[in-house]
Formats: sequence, structure tokens, C-alpha cells
Amino acid sequence: MATAKAHTNIALVKYWGKKDQDMIIPQTDSLSLTLDEFYTTTKVTFDDQLSSDQVSINSNLLGDQASQKVRNFLDLVRKMSGTTAFARVESQNHVPTAAGLASSASAFAALAGAASRAAGLNLDRRDLSRLARRGSGSATRSIYGGLVEWQRGHDDATSYAKPIMEEVDFGLEMLAIMVDTTAKKISSRFGMQQSVASSPYYKVWPEIVAHDMAAIKEAIAARNIDAIGEIAETNALRMHALTLSAEPGFTYFDSDTLKAMRAVRALRDNGIHCYFTMDAGPNVKVIYDRQDRQSIFKALATEFGADRLVVSKPGPGIKIWND
Ligand code: ADP
Ligand code: DP6
Repeated sequence: MATAKAHTNIALVKYWGKKDQDMIIPQTDSLSLTLDEFYTTTKVTFDDQLSSDQVSINSNLLGDQASQKVRNFLDLVRKMSGTTAFARVESQNHVPTAAGLASSASAFAALAGAASRAAGLNLDRRDLSRLARRGSGSATRSIYGGLVEWQRGHDDATSYAKPIMEEVDFGLEMLAIMVDTTAKKISSRFGMQQSVASSPYYKVWPEIVAHDMAAIKEAIAARNIDAIGEIAETNALRMHALTLSAEPGFTYFDSDTLKAMRAVRALRDNGIHCYFTMDAGPNVKVIYDRQDRQSIFKALATEFGADRLVVSKPGPGIKIWND
């Protein structure tokens, strides 16, 4: 039996597309910020008395279909460790599930940590990152705190995350505008597959990401939040252009997403430095320097209500313990 706590991460340069669906090898590198406010805690118990895996999220027992990904992941851990017992998985999401706030990142990082430890494997962080990747691509990065790069690699051995700056030593912060926290209709997995398969613009995406990765690493080294924000905002819009240009086209935005994007740009026009990014969901994350937190929060609270805003500092890497 073991428990792990992993935090979500939000990509500043997005992962959007796989080369290998089964191994989850991405088309490109990506780079994210781990957040302290959103996380998943997962306890895994291998138990000879069980006749099947039992998975609960927030105390709700999942049915066969909903637990499929987790059971496949447990099969992988059983294969690696030689364990034959089924497992009880008890997971608590301190993040809305499947709403574009990266629940799959914290969920599969925590599951990788708890299941591997409970099965008697003692993986280092690189191997944990590789294992988490098999559950969900973005989980690869949630093993580490702070600013993290996922190097795409070319196979299972070479595709893993690396910390860029685990202890963020400058004022970078993120505020989530919770536009809608209900589960999305189009999963990231399906959405990115559609984009790769049918957007005529997908062929330039790897070039865009290569450019943005180099630029954002320079901006991080210079602790330049404006440059980081500009790169992240442009990269997010270009990722979302891949959904709009798929066949059939689709979008994760709703009308309040556009309202939030406009609000951020209006703040910027008024001299307050802040930038937006969106993932596979309607919620908007604002990037800024902590010294501007109060003015940004105040302005956005009048438009969206303070109860829909969550301020997040950079968060830590995974913690695993034996109960
Ligand atoms: P998100 O934007 O929240 O990451 P995704 O569609 O990428 O949304 O992933 C959501 C999926 O992740 C859920 O449908 C579920 O399969 C899985 N998931 C979320 N939380 C957990 C958890 N705590 N334990 C296991 N799987 C989870
Ligand atoms: C928009 O990691 O959820 O958040 O690998 O299929 O599980 P799967 O997808 P997932 O996709 C994340 C997409 C994103 C961008 C990012 O996190 O880099």
C-alpha cells in the first residue's frame, strides 16, 4: 500500500499531438508550470482478496468503462513488478475533473507514484516520469515542481520530463478563471488526434513549438515574465487554431472564454502586464508577476466574481509515502 500526491501543471508551450498513440510519444517537446493549488492524492493497495481492480475518484466508485484507463495502467505496473494482485485505487482530485485544468496530469502522476511504490518498485524520477507518460502525456511533467520540460524523445526510453527550474526564484504566478468546471465533451486525447489527422496547419506546429521552446527557455533564464507570457499566449492561440481548422472543426472555448481573453487584453492595454493561456477546456489561466496579483484579481473579480478566481503559485514535485 502506498500514497502519492502530485500537482497539476499547465503548459506554457503545449503538447498537442502524438507520434505513437500507445506509448504516448509526443510530436513535440513541451514546457509547463506545476501549480500549488491543484493536485491529486491517490492511495493504491494491492490486495490478494480482490477479484478485480476497484477505482474511486472523490469517493465515487467508477464503472468498468470509466476506470478502463486506470486498469490498463495498473496492468502495466503489474507487468513491470511481477505483481499479480488486483488493486484498490482511492483518488481525491483537488482540481475539477476533465475540465481543462489538467486533472489527468496530476491523476496519472499520482497513480504512477503510488502504484509503483505499492508494487514494490522503487523508481527514480526519470522512470516515474516515463511511467506517468503511459497514463497521460501531460502527467509526464507533473513528477517535477516548478518549470518543467518534456523532451519528446523517440521511444519509451527517451521520452521523459526534466526540471528547468524546480524552485521558481522569480515572481511567476498563474490565476485560473473558472469559466466552467463541468467535464468537457471532447477529451484532449481525441481532440489532439483529430487535429493531427485533419488540420492542414498541423504540419507547421512542430516548427512553431521548436521556436517557442528555444525562446521560452531564454525568457526563463532571463526571468522575463512578459516574454514568457507573450510566448505562452501566442502558443496557446496557435494550438487552438489546430482545433478550429480540423475536419470537422471544433473548439474548447465558450463565450466566457472569449470574455476572459478580452479582459486580460484590456488589462494589458491599461498597463497591467498579464497574459492568457487555455488548454482543452473553456477555463482561462492568467500569467503574471506576483507584484501585480492584487490589481489583476480586483479587476477580474468585478467581471467574473472572486469565487471563480483561483490564484496559484508554482507548486512542488511528487511526494510518495508508504502508509
Ligand atoms: P483534464 O483537462 O482534466 O486533464 P482530460 O480529458 O485530459 O481532462 O482527462 C480527464 C480524464 O483523466 C478523466 O476522464 C479520467 O479518465 C482521468 N482522471 C481524472 N482524474 C483522475 C483520478 N483522480 N484518477 C484517475 N483518473 C483520473
Ligand atoms: C492542452 O495529457 O490530457 O493540456 O496524453 O492523451 O492523456 P493524453 O492528453 P493530455 O493532453 C494535454 C493537452 C494540453 C496541453 C499540455 O498539457 O501540454
